[in-house]
Amino acid sequence: MTPAHAPATFTQALPSYLDPHHLGPWGIYLQQVDRVTPYLGRLARWVETLKRPKRTLIVDVPIQLDNGTVAHFEGYRVQHNTSRGPGKGGVRFHQDVTLSEVMALAAWMSIKNAAVNVPYGGAKGGIRVDPRQLSRGELERVTRRYTSEIGIIIGPSKDIPAPDVNTNEQVMAWMMDTYSMNEGATATGVVTGKPVDLGGSLGRREATGRGVFTVGAEAARRTGLDVAAARVAVQGFGNVGGVAAKLFAEAGARIVAVQDHGGTLYRDSGIDVPALLDHVGRHGSVAGFAGADTVASEDFWGLPCDILIPAALEGQITEKNAGRIQARMVIEGANGPTTPQADDILHDRGVLVLPDVIANAGGVTVSYFEWVQDFSSFFWTEDEINARLVKIMKDAFAAVWQVAEDHKVSLRTATFIIACQRILHARDLRGLYP
Ligand SMILES: NC(=O)c1ccc[n+]([C@@H]2O[C@H](COP(=O)([O-])OP(=O)(O)OC[C@H]3O[C@@H](n4cnc5c(N)ncnc54)[C@H](O)[C@@H]3O)[C@@H](O)[C@H]2O)c1
Repeated sequence: MTPAHAPATFTQALPSYLDPHHLGPWGIYLQQVDRVTPYLGRLARWVETLKRPKRTLIVDVPIQLDNGTVAHFEGYRVQHNTSRGPGKGGVRFHQDVTLSEVMALAAWMSIKNAAVNVPYGGAKGGIRVDPRQLSRGELERVTRRYTSEIGIIIGPSKDIPAPDVNTNEQVMAWMMDTYSMNEGATATGVVTGKPVDLGGSLGRREATGRGVFTVGAEAARRTGLDVAAARVAVQGFGNVGGVAAKLFAEAGARIVAVQDHGGTLYRDSGIDVPALLDHVGRHGSVAGFAGADTVASEDFWGLPCDILIPAALEGQITEKNAGRIQARMVIEGANGPTTPQADDILHDRGVLVLPDVIANAGGVTVSYFEWVQDFSSFFWTEDEINARLVKIMKDAFAAVWQVAEDHKVSLRTATFIIACQRILHARDLRGLYP
């Protein structure tokens, strides 16, 4: 036993619920924090705060299937940091979701929210389920039971979920209704990304893609890349990738390649984006679209293009394919699509990477607008929302660009410097309770 007078020392170990040999996306996030620590000055004394989530909830989600049997799914809600405000972050329904992944996604939300200076901490949720295997009724039951289970830690001033991969406005409507029924009062501000008729915000559905386009256009202007003459490749043609592709095409760019879970398309003269969006709306995937050639999925990364937008899942650009990428600029629509090793390869090859933590922050920015509108029960026009979104994205990106130049670091490290300083400054001001 340590004698009473000897000061105890505590090693800052990994949480025991993580396997140090299989850290997954959380391991990537930890490396990113280590890269930024030398720039934190006296705030570095608080850095361990960023290396563990504040709160981690694992829930069992049992539902009765349409065939009468009972199925159990694993659900999570992680609140990484709440120093600057309530938790904020999406809910993902995917068969491969893990705790490590949800932890990393929650942490990236802390960074992102601080980078665009909205008054939120970071959170994320998920269920290990393939929603394509569920009927609409089963999907509703999974959503409602999950919401009820995490209801003890979410709320308009505690933690506000939003859509992510495989969740949408309808899922948010069920979440809002379930939480409201349990509370005994309609609480529109408990989730964002709701249908407009239920307190959702105009412009929310397009916001992440619009933010991707805004920072992409800003970076293109600063590096002399003409967007109107650019060839663009997009992985993921859902909420983020589909809207980003549409806005780049409207600005004159050619969308030469698109990949989703069902297939990979290529057309040098440019794919008709509205026609492809219509096809995906009817068939659920880009597969089978007649207006482009189908190519093998592994060939996607080497296709000729100027701008590459990963907008599907994390861990897509790795040391295996980073050397083949021909783009001058990568805009991360997805969260965590590039591994640190791939980041270094792209940097060495002179490919500019616009990191997720700033590039896809448009969604949470308009989620913030939605939450503010719900609290005041006063709703803004779409033009007001888009103008405010574009201003926040441009200002935040300009600050990131400046810090990158000042410190001669990547845009990712620059975004982490700004965000971690804001989070840890709040931690420092608040002090430790009790
Ligand atoms: N929706 C938002 O507001 C928002 C905000 C910030 C970040 N993001 C991130 O953007 C990414 C996409 O989210 P979304 O909302 O567009 O989801 P979505 O479900 O609308 O679309 C996901 C897309 O990825 C494709 N996809 C899935 N698996 C794939 C695979 N193995 N290979 C190629 N394509 C694959 C799907 O086919 C689909 O086109 C996620 O990383 C998400 O966390 C979303």
